Amino acid sequence: MKKTLVVMVAVCAVLAFVGGAYAQEATYIGNKQCKICHSKAEEGEQWTKWKASPHAKALEALATPEAKALADKAKLDKPAAEAPQCLKCHVTAFDEKTGAPTAPLLKEDGVQCEMCHGPASLHVADGKKFKSGDKTVNMAAHIKPTPDEAVCKGCHNEQSATWKADRYTLEGGGKAGFDFKQAAAKLAHPNPTKKK
Ligand code: HEC
Ligand code: HEC
Ligand code: HEC
Ligand code: HEC
Repeated sequence: MKKTLVVMVAVCAVLAFVGGAYAQEATYIGNKQCKICHSKAEEGEQWTKWKASPHAKALEALATPEAKALADKAKLDKPAAEAPQCLKCHVTAFDEKTGAPTAPLLKEDGVQCEMCHGPASLHVADGKKFKSGDKTVNMAAHIKPTPDEAVCKGCHNEQSATWKADRYTLEGGGKAGFDFKQAAAKLAHPNPTKKK
């Protein structure tokens, strides 16, 4: 019995080691990288569209008089733009331990690409290969191509300081604080050269 257990533990350790060596994890890289390859107007200029969207201004939104009033109401001991209670939804991948976005992401970039598409270091490496001529690279392999409703609802929920349960009017006339279909359409950034 004891011997079997020892063998099993040893096998698991080997499997974990092999798994770790092959399944390389993507890490956050920052949206300056995305700008290099996703700014062409003919391909849908995703970066430019994001830059003009509310998500790019999510940190600035914490410095407005409205934000100050909300912070006062919540009796925060710090200004909204420094308070974890607000930052956790107004920046990308907020890290409770440091009180900042996960390095190397910048607070100023607010809610950026990797919040929805996931950590993208491996995708950027793929993109560099692709751009240097290797068209066999599968560009969908290391990126979340279609972020779903669950990602949005991590922030678009009743914990939001500005949540309005009737912000969206649904097709049947009902109301909702968030509606994925309409919200995603407001911020759509498709690549027109790709057929769907
Ligand atoms: C070195 C170039 C390069 C960089 C940097 C890059 N990408 Fe891409 N990306 C591509 C190429 C090429 C494609 C395939 C063509 C397309 O779908 O636009 C692609 C596709 C995508 C897709 C669509 C995948 C699919 O199959 O529908 C997403 C989403 C994406 N990139 C997100 C990002 C994000 C987020 C960043 C920044 C963290 C980024 N990319 C950085 C080159 C790059
Ligand atoms: C659970 C996530 C979440 C938390 C926590 C949160 N926010 Fe927000 N905030 C949002 C979302 C999502 C929006 C977009 C509107 C909505 O659905 O509430 C938003 C919008 C705002 C706006 C409006 C921006 C504009 O352009 O009109 C302000 C101001 C704001 N938040 C301030 C704060 C402050 C101050 C705090 C901390 C006391 C805070 N938020 C905490 C998610 C959050
Ligand atoms: C990390 C938190 C976070 C995530 C995840 C997130 N958002 Fe937001 N969103 C915000 C914040 C904060 C604001 C307000 C920013 C401002 O006004 O400057 C906002 C604003 C918006 C707005 C404008 C306000 C409104 O409701 O009309 C839309 C539309 C929106 N987000 C759609 C989405 C969609 C669609 C997704 C998922 C694909 C998503 N968001 C994911 C935090 C988030
Ligand atoms: C609030 C969440 C959110 C943010 C932030 C965001 N995206 Fe997206 N992105 C989406 C959604 C949702 C789709 C549509 C997926 C689908 O086709 O269903 C998408 C699609 C894409 C596509 C595929 C377009 C196509 O037609 O194939 C690319 C490329 C892309 N995003 C790049 C970016 C880049 C680069 C950034 C930052 C500059 C960014 N996205 C920021 C949610 C987001």
